[in-house]
Amino acid sequence: MTQKILATRYIKVDPLHPDPGVIQAAGDILARGGLVAFPTETVYGLGANALDGRAVMRIFEVKGRPSDNPMIVHVADLDQVKDLVECLSSPAQELMRAFWPGPLTLVLPVGGVVPPEVTAGLPSVAIRMPGHAVALALIRAAGSPVAAPSANLSGRPSPTMAAHVMQDLNGRIDMILDGGAAGVGVESTVLDLTGSVPTILRPGGVTPEALTGILGKVMVEPAALSSLQTAKPRSPGMKYTHYAPRAPLLLLEGEPRVIAAKIREIAAAYRSKGKQVGILAYADGEDYTGAGQVVLAGQRSKPETVAAGLYAALRRFNDLEVDFILAEGLPESGVGLAVMNRLRKAAGGRIWHVVDRDVGNHLDKMHDE
Ligand code: TXA
Ligand code: MG
Repeated sequence: MTQKILATRYIKVDPLHPDPGVIQAAGDILARGGLVAFPTETVYGLGANALDGRAVMRIFEVKGRPSDNPMIVHVADLDQVKDLVECLSSPAQELMRAFWPGPLTLVLPVGGVVPPEVTAGLPSVAIRMPGHAVALALIRAAGSPVAAPSANLSGRPSPTMAAHVMQDLNGRIDMILDGGAAGVGVESTVLDLTGSVPTILRPGGVTPEALTGILGKVMVEPAALSSLQTAKPRSPGMKYTHYAPRAPLLLLEGEPRVIAAKIREIAAAYRSKGKQVGILAYADGEDYTGAGQVVLAGQRSKPETVAAGLYAALRRFNDLEVDFILAEGLPESGVGLAVMNRLRKAAGGRIWHVVDRDVGNHLDKMHDE
């Protein structure tokens, strides 16, 4: 597809008290049908006026996003929600009070004003109120809700810094607001409230444990728990390979000591073939010095720190130009569930549940790519 080259304006803003003049200029761009990348508390978003189907179509074009993957509509106050939905159940309202602004996206029956480009023609719409002063000010300045997927090229890791957005979208969009590093680091939790039991379609910043506290029963969509692609995932985004660094990634799950032994063994085998091996590890975990190009993504014992550093770590492997990446899995408690969901997606099926007897075995299970 031919892309028009735009002069992308890059502007630094204070994440807590953004300059009103800058925000208004960005809001005006959105109101005129343009595209602005902006920080949220989860990852950077690429925004367009959610009520302008043509502006939303441009997001699909610049990202190379499949057109059947719907977008999240971002609001700045609860009043904006009413027009976007057909009805609001009391659990939905309770969740909004408890978690908004914050990393929780609610899938609700869609109202008449939302163009089909946003929902990809589904009878539901995904809505969230981001917990970031820049995002909220921008939505207000635009004078409309803002449709925004993550501000990366489709298939690449989501951007947690403005520099990542520059790498992917410079020359394709009108403006980038740089408000520093996104805090949570993985995308919002997508919770479907249109069925009989609330269902997490995508694990994220708000944990199942926290949701259960309010809703009682919450299900997690099986497709969100494994790399297996179900025939008809309920969240269209789940069927695409996401978050992937350029080099193939093998995710090793199991007991840390056993995983570590296996990683050393595989890394040595690759090194002996003259390949560059990347190792995704944790600051408080195994020390792989000398085994490969080690990138640390937070602390294993604090999954929220891994979430915050994960996408930057995956992009770092691109800079290091490794041939193959070995990644340590994590326990799935708390935000660890979201981290493992993203790692499994990044692995695109290359997942090994390592057990003791695997260590020292031949490498014939490996797909050498
Ligand atoms: O944290 C986030 O959610 C970030 C920031 C920018 O807000 N946004 C984000 O957007 O991650 P995106 O487009 O990368 O992911 C949106 C996800 C996709 O998996 C999509 O399929 C799902 O939400 N989704 C959107 N509308 C839906 C709907 N009506 N029903 C089911 N899933 C929906
Ligand atoms: Mg995305």
